[in-house]
Amino acid sequence: MNIIDIIEKKKRGNKLTKEEIDFFVQGYSRDTIPDYQISALLMAIWCKGLDREETTNLTLSMVKSGETVDLSQIDGIKVDKHSSGGVADTVSLPLVALVAANGVPVAKMSGRGLGHTGGTIDKLESIPGLKTEIPIEEFINIVKRVKGAIVAQSKNLVIADKKMYALRDVTATVDSVPLIASSIMSKKIAAGADAIVLDVKVGDGAFMKNLSDALTLAKTMVDIGSLAKRKTVAYITDMNEPLGDAIGNAIEVEEAIDVLKGKGGKRLVNVIKTLGGEMLTLGGKAKDTQQGQEMIERAIEDGTGLRKFREIIQAQGGNPHVTENFSLFPKAKFRIEVKAEESGYISHIETEEVGKLAAFLGAGRTKKGEKIDLSVGILFPKKVGDFVKKGDKIAEILSNDMGKGEEAKKRLLKLIELKENKVQPLPLIYYRVSEEGIKKFIE
Ligand code: URA
Ligand code: CA
Repeated sequence: MNIIDIIEKKKRGNKLTKEEIDFFVQGYSRDTIPDYQISALLMAIWCKGLDREETTNLTLSMVKSGETVDLSQIDGIKVDKHSSGGVADTVSLPLVALVAANGVPVAKMSGRGLGHTGGTIDKLESIPGLKTEIPIEEFINIVKRVKGAIVAQSKNLVIADKKMYALRDVTATVDSVPLIASSIMSKKIAAGADAIVLDVKVGDGAFMKNLSDALTLAKTMVDIGSLAKRKTVAYITDMNEPLGDAIGNAIEVEEAIDVLKGKGGKRLVNVIKTLGGEMLTLGGKAKDTQQGQEMIERAIEDGTGLRKFREIIQAQGGNPHVTENFSLFPKAKFRIEVKAEESGYISHIETEEVGKLAAFLGAGRTKKGEKIDLSVGILFPKKVGDFVKKGDKIAEILSNDMGKGEEAKKRLLKLIELKENKVQPLPLIYYRVSEEGIKKFIE
């Protein structure tokens, strides 16, 4: 077998065999095939696509490229969650605590932010002392003891994805349904959970810009999950505006804590309830998603979710007092108010650009491995449909560099469109996709 023939075959739009897929995935993981040939192949895949069988074979071959985690020592049905990536997507931290508080074990491996999207591991590291690089045995012991843990993906897991993701990021081949589906599902399968809930984001601030691509991605991932014997349910949720009110790292953890104190914004809390209700159902603790959602609500109201979050922080070596004392978080030197320059209803937010603006302030990275500033970001509590009055404060820029902060203020105002007439709020949950079929929530 020869890599040039495989590139040639895909370039012409022909189907690759399981053996050919294995050949390039294992060859690339073991450094016997160079970056430039895989770059060409990834671009051919971006242009010509992969069918369901090729995508499944790619995913399973990627899983084989590294270690896999065995969670069988942990009692109960282990349920994992993954988001395809968004802006102010502060879901995982409160969600893991709320699901664990209801008795379903969550052994979550998360990623770092890349491009305009944030990453749970970066956010968590703003908690003083908290460790995210934890050996697998210790990780499993924490989940056994407190039912939840969130750690960085181990270095030896899905080696093919680490290499391919870095290459895709610099060859404009990230936004491909089969490549995203295999990237996400290989990591979820290797991480060992019995069931998986996926949050597929759609809209300006997501990789999938339209509903039809998002549905294809969701169906592809649910299919792969079934074939790998992991019950998988995907929700398609809106990313045409930042989901929460904070875009950054420390400020997103503060918002996560506010959610657990019952002070979270409606849209963020609704996504958490929807995914949490599903996780409790798959985990066998709720009879249906309705009951599951009520259990999530109760864990917010009675404080058990917040207590669980503190236990998780402490188990991972972090200072649990952060939940009561936000001054323990890294703080930016400057807080710059952004005031509306005219009055009107917010009709559109350039969400991807808002994410990039937070990265410009230092909250995210443009290259893998870049150091980030955990204290900076944007507080932007306004949503589409809200009325703003000229001169009112609509956002705050948190920066350690006055010049950058002033520039971000000017740029942010250009990313928000106002209309004179009333504007409807955006839909939030579009579809639920499972083995049983597709359920539509809203038009
Ligand atoms: N998240 C992933 O893990 N992989 C992708 O390819 C895109 C989003
Ligand atoms: Ca855009």
